Amino acid sequence: MTASTAVSFRVRFYSNSDLEHVRQILKESKLRGVDSPLHQMMRAEFTKPRAFIAYFLSIVGLIFERRCSTLWRRCVGAVLASSGVLSAAFWVLKVRSDFIKFVHDGLADDVSAIPQHYQMFSPEGDENRLLPTGKNAFWVAEAYETDSGKVTDIVGCIGLDATTEPTAELRRMAVASKYRGRGVARLLIQALVQHARLNAIEDVFLRMSAANTNALAVYQRFGWVIIERNSRYKNVDGHKLNLTVSECPL
Ligand SMILES: CC(C)(COP(=O)(O)OP(=O)(O)OC[C@H]1O[C@@H](n2cnc3c(N)ncnc32)[C@H](O)[C@@H]1OP(=O)(O)O)[C@@H](O)C(=O)NCCC(=O)NCCS
Repeated sequence: MTASTAVSFRVRFYSNSDLEHVRQILKESKLRGVDSPLHQMMRAEFTKPRAFIAYFLSIVGLIFERRCSTLWRRCVGAVLASSGVLSAAFWVLKVRSDFIKFVHDGLADDVSAIPQHYQMFSPEGDENRLLPTGKNAFWVAEAYETDSGKVTDIVGCIGLDATTEPTAELRRMAVASKYRGRGVARLLIQALVQHARLNAIEDVFLRMSAANTNALAVYQRFGWVIIERNSRYKNVDGHKLNLTVSECPL
């Protein structure tokens, strides 16, 4: 592909050969880059009340350590100062390891068995292709050369899990970082909402990390509203959002 080749995007149902792309996109989207949910959560840790307690301890400790004349007071100061620093570091590292575990557990969960979890089947004679059997479904977005139609990359994914009827859950939305801001999530959400309408699904909820303000803005853009704030979800601070499908502008 030359630098000038125009690229467009389209969404289709997940195929068995997409698995590695989907795993890579999901892993990258959660863990890599300063805008990733992992880094947002680690940054958010620095402004939590427990971080301010740690800063306070460190400052008081430093003042003791510098200003006090007696050795034992200076030692107390040094202990206070280092416990403040250590507790701040502890919480940042704990949030980091909880979140990495959360992502890895997730990849071992529905993503390791997309056809089964999203109840998709292969039409006869085409083992790679998958079609939904009912309300659940999983989609990928692909990039293709606008002129030739040649597919160049798998760039995003999204899943709809309706096993929690009467509402359904949006899961696994992610777009590869180099394709963000080009309307791929809009196409993915559009496919999901159309499928929800066809299957008479009235509400689509989702859970997300509270620190992921970028994704929150995208969901709110398409009609999701926060219905539960700061609920703990698998050890991560999170929000629950709901979309009334009839109110989605797509
Ligand atoms: C969140 C994510 C999927 C968005 O994908 P994207 O392809 O860049 O999004 P789009 O370009 O389709 O933007 C969708 C809409 O949201 C709007 N939008 C995007 N980011 C926004 C922001 N930070 N603030 C306000 N609106 C925003 C866009 O303007 C666009 O609206 P429009 O179609 O009316 O112009 C992508 O950033 C991503 O993969 N992030 C990491 C994974 C993740 O957080 N997934 C969600 C887990 S809950």
